[in-house]
Amino acid sequence: MSILVTGGAGYIGSHTCLELLNAGYEIVVIDNLSNSKLESLNRVSELAKTDFKFYSIDLLNKKALETVFSENNIEAVIHFAGLKSVNESIETPLHYYHNNVTSTLNLCQTMGKYGVKKMIFSSSANVYGETKCVPVTEEHPLNPINPYGRTKLIIETILRDLYISDHSWSIALLRYFNPVGAHESGRIGEDPNDIPNNLMPYITQVAIGKRDKLKVFGNDYDTHDGTGVRDYIHVVDLAKGHLKALEMVIPTTGIDVFNLGTGVGYSVLDLIKGYENTTSQKIPYIFTHRRPGDIDKCYADTTKATKKLGWTATKNLEDMCYDSWKWQKNNPNGYNE
Ligand code: NAD
Ligand code: UD1
Repeated sequence: MSILVTGGAGYIGSHTCLELLNAGYEIVVIDNLSNSKLESLNRVSELAKTDFKFYSIDLLNKKALETVFSENNIEAVIHFAGLKSVNESIETPLHYYHNNVTSTLNLCQTMGKYGVKKMIFSSSANVYGETKCVPVTEEHPLNPINPYGRTKLIIETILRDLYISDHSWSIALLRYFNPVGAHESGRIGEDPNDIPNNLMPYITQVAIGKRDKLKVFGNDYDTHDGTGVRDYIHVVDLAKGHLKALEMVIPTTGIDVFNLGTGVGYSVLDLIKGYENTTSQKIPYIFTHRRPGDIDKCYADTTKATKKLGWTATKNLEDMCYDSWKWQKNNPNGYNE
């Protein structure tokens, strides 16, 4: 029996594939490589010292998807595949709704047809929208403020309706906070195609000299130092959360939702200082205006994941900074070398 990983060549997917293989699972990976490179999977294979099947297909292609299910004995699906840029989703909403929602419909229909009813879905803290109080529990109102976040909420809703219609499904909705860092080997990590939008990959590119300085978006927020506060979580901790979710989903039925974060909020300045202290690299920065759509603080209440999944993040800010620097230093051009 295999675990099917959609979007497995991507940032979180590749780290999760490695943890799955290390734990002895057999995996099958699907990715259309629209935002990733095959090299990430070559390196997963090298690190795990084992091979696995890879299908370079698009989830929008239902026929191709069917061949994956007919050729393999799939036990459960971890569904990472999707587009994730907030800005792009505002510019091309139809593309985002089509890619994220339609591909999930195709996947669920095909799973149902082949009697595979166990799924873990990559949702996002983005579904909460403007946080009314922190730490954010899973019961916080859901009000995503951009098309990307709305695709996540729509998919969560579809999966809940699916379970209501057929109680033999078993689904975990995982709401990630801010994944950062890289595998400790420095062989796999985040490889943004363009100028990074997110803080940590931007900082690492400043550290390596690809960018002059970081623009800190606003220093007048209602936080301890005026800069935005987020819940950064090491990608390997996050990957391990998927294994815990699998252990819950495989032997049971039902649908449940979990925040995956550390429960600790760090500001932009905390991250800069942490990075400088851990890596001895100077990160020049300037304060600029707030980024539209940003909120002052967002961090998770992770009590539910701890209690029900038996999962807690173990890596600290130092690990996150050190591992992301090691990845960047060893791979200045990402997977392109
Ligand atoms: P990523 O872009 O690195 O990985 C997603 C992968 O899905 C890519 O390899 C891409 O090529 C593939 N893909 C996209 N559309 C596809 C399709 N139609 N068919 C086949 N493959 C397709 O992103 P990531 O950071 O690894 O994120 C994984 C998931 O987690 C995404 O669903 C994302 O929305 C969600 N998420 C990410 C973050 C984050 O900050 N990275 C935060 C919250 C939630
Ligand atoms: C962003 C996305 C969110 C996504 C999340 C995880 C937006 C509006 N939101 O959230 O949907 O789920 O990433 O990947 O894009 N910052 C700077 N300078 C920079 C970059 C960021 O000061 O160059 C600040 C931001 O203002 C924020 C913090 O750093 O306070 C974190 O930003 P970022 O990494 O983009 O994550 P989010 O804003 O949480």
